[in-house]
Amino acid sequence: MKLEEQYKLIEFADLGDERGNLVVIEGEGMNIPFDIKRVFYIYGSDSTVVRGQHANRETEFLLVNVSGNSKVRVDNGRESVVVELNKPRMGLYLASMLWKDMYDFSDDSVLLVLASRHYDEKEYIRDYDAYLQALREKESLESE
Ligand code: TYD
Repeated sequence: MKLEEQYKLIEFADLGDERGNLVVIEGEGMNIPFDIKRVFYIYGSDSTVVRGQHANRETEFLLVNVSGNSKVRVDNGRESVVVELNKPRMGLYLASMLWKDMYDFSDDSVLLVLASRHYDEKEYIRDYDAYLQALREKESLESE
């Protein structure tokens, strides 16, 4: 599959008014393509660390820098792209089986992550060569 079909930048509406901003993210196809099973957020990282460095066999994600900014490198084994997350209304949707690195966190970065599945360490691939091997296995199964 082409990388451009595996990730998507989504701009959410601002329902704010003179009292301030309000952004809503609803699952099950309302704003994002999956049902939200898990929410976590990452803060206190800085420009010296690289997080992620894994792929997930099943889970889809939606990333939003609700404060500050960070960069996400998305890789499908053939192509890669770097996306800068720097607006509370901008979400990055990631399909399953993508390798991702998150880095260059600003000091005020709060990276909110919505996930389509509960946490299961068994569906994480944390070795890049193992990821490439898993992609080859998936492709050979799909071509049968
Ligand atoms: P890790 O996957 O290394 O975080 P990141 O993707 O940001 O690099 O997760 C750090 C630790 O937290 C690791 O021990 C697994 C645990 N963890 C959970 O228990 N549940 C979760 O939903 C997540 C994302 C991590």
